[in-house]
Amino acid sequence: MTKVAIIGAGPCGLSMLRSFEQAEKKGEKIPEIVCFDKQEDWGGLWNYSWRTGSDQYGDPVPNSMYRYLWSNGPKECLEFADYSFDEHFGKPIPSFPPREVLYDYILGRVKKGNLKDKIRFNNNVTNVAYNGNNFEITSLDKKNNKISKDVFDYVVVSTGHFSVPFIPEYPGMKAFPGRIMHSHDFRDAEEFRDKNVIVLGSSYSAEDVALQCHKYGAKSVTIGYRHNPMGFKWPKGMKEVFHLDRLEGNKAIFKDGHEQEADAIILCTGYLHHFPFLSEDLKLKTGNRLYPPMLYKGVVWQNNHKLIYLGMQDQFHTFNMFDCQAWFARDVVMGKIKIPNNSEIEKDINKWVSMEEKLENPDQMIDFQTEYTKELHDLSDYPKIDFELIRKNFKEWEHHKVENIMTYRNKSFSSPVTGSVAPIHHTAWEVAMDDSLKTFLNQSKN
Ligand SMILES: Cc1cc2nc3c(=O)[nH]c(=O)nc-3n(C[C@H](O)[C@H](O)[C@H](O)COP(=O)(O)OP(=O)(O)OC[C@H]3O[C@@H](n4cnc5c(N)ncnc54)[C@H](O)[C@@H]3O)c2cc1C
Ligand SMILES: NC(=O)c1ccc[n+]([C@@H]2O[C@H](COP(=O)([O-])OP(=O)(O)OC[C@H]3O[C@@H](n4cnc5c(N)ncnc54)[C@H](OP(=O)(O)O)[C@@H]3O)[C@@H](O)[C@H]2O)c1
Repeated sequence: MTKVAIIGAGPCGLSMLRSFEQAEKKGEKIPEIVCFDKQEDWGGLWNYSWRTGSDQYGDPVPNSMYRYLWSNGPKECLEFADYSFDEHFGKPIPSFPPREVLYDYILGRVKKGNLKDKIRFNNNVTNVAYNGNNFEITSLDKKNNKISKDVFDYVVVSTGHFSVPFIPEYPGMKAFPGRIMHSHDFRDAEEFRDKNVIVLGSSYSAEDVALQCHKYGAKSVTIGYRHNPMGFKWPKGMKEVFHLDRLEGNKAIFKDGHEQEADAIILCTGYLHHFPFLSEDLKLKTGNRLYPPMLYKGVVWQNNHKLIYLGMQDQFHTFNMFDCQAWFARDVVMGKIKIPNNSEIEKDINKWVSMEEKLENPDQMIDFQTEYTKELHDLSDYPKIDFELIRKNFKEWEHHKVENIMTYRNKSFSSPVTGSVAPIHHTAWEVAMDDSLKTFLNQSKN
């Protein structure tokens, strides 16, 4: 019997498990599956941890999410085609849920089966090597300090790529008297109440960490961008300036001459695709981009078609794209999809990579990833979902952000699965301090 290893039980690993479960339900004979996760429970980044640094076993903590994190895109863009929000919550809910609500949703469909039995928790995969025929996986059972070796025909790498921080150094950091941290270790904006905070970066973490600090009472928030500013209309107390030059004592000096006293510096400088457990010939080497090279259909490793990567792209689309990838990967493993010859693979990868390199603005990037996801969708029996509505929702969301970065999370979108329109949340995001599932779902205003 074919044996498949899935490394990681975050949203991607769970999509993979779900795809096999759905095939089995249709009467198909599925491979033997073992899923490894180094955390003690499933859900990946969505499984919030207060920990930073290393866990109780000395293993680096993968979690990067923080208290008061809300979805930064409409939930209607990430909805599962086979498990709607309406089905999970029994009623339409607002478009921008907090983390705990999305965590509940992600787990909802996998809890229905017996998929948890297939996962070895607290198991860190430490080595994967291909011997020309199959893969030997070495894993460490952290709880029992026991090393195991297992042999598999296919390996699915679904370990995420927002867990290992990229940490640059700027002159003056060593002598800075305040706190310097990466957004990976950011857990609670309350810590920065009444503080002058510097945020470095110009992507989603910079945007949201800066907004969180402002929302929870920072005295000032200064965002230093390196290449392009985010350019939003920031509220009073927030500003965006050009590139940090150096720190002198507690003063941050920027390349545009701007100076700001600082109590804390938060590096929102992104993450590394980091696979220390893979041998060099199997290792994806890429930055955070929409089409990492060497992956056929964004999924199958060009030099070894038994190695599959899920979710390695920069992400507008998330959960339903991961599903489309998983359903495609499942059919590759089960021999229902034939991989073409090397030159066709090369041509296909080059086509997508060269299209990606020409993209100039968010609308084009949304179109690109929507087209990619649609193409994958057409290759498997993943249920119908309205990608044209998702495309439209994403573009509207982008425009809402430009209109007002403080209010975009108060908007409502319609579902690409059920068509239902989201109710407006009872409390505007900028004053909603309680992010619990209970409060979010309680729609009656009090
Ligand atoms: C701060 C932050 C906020 C985000 N907010 C949103 C949002 O609002 N909406 C959205 O759609 N997306 C958001 N994302 C994107 C996020 O990447 C995806 O939603 C999703 O979590 C990706 O799933 P994944 O399974 O690829 O990776 P992960 O969620 O990272 O899961 C990977 C799993 O692999 C395990 N693992 C890693 N290495 C090993 C190993 N060697 N052995 C065993 N197990 C291993 C980890 O323990 C983890 O459980 C956010 C990301 C970050 C960093
Ligand atoms: N739900 C939420 O609210 C929420 C919150 C946070 C994050 N997220 C998610 O988390 C994921 C990761 O986002 P991310 O912003 O951490 O990573 P990212 O999108 O990869 O962005 C990395 C940023 O770091 C900057 N950077 C890199 N090196 C730098 C340096 N030396 N000095 C200054 N800036 C530097 C880059 O700037 P250049 O452009 O100049 O290279 C870029 O702006 C995304 O999927 C996002 O959606 C979601």
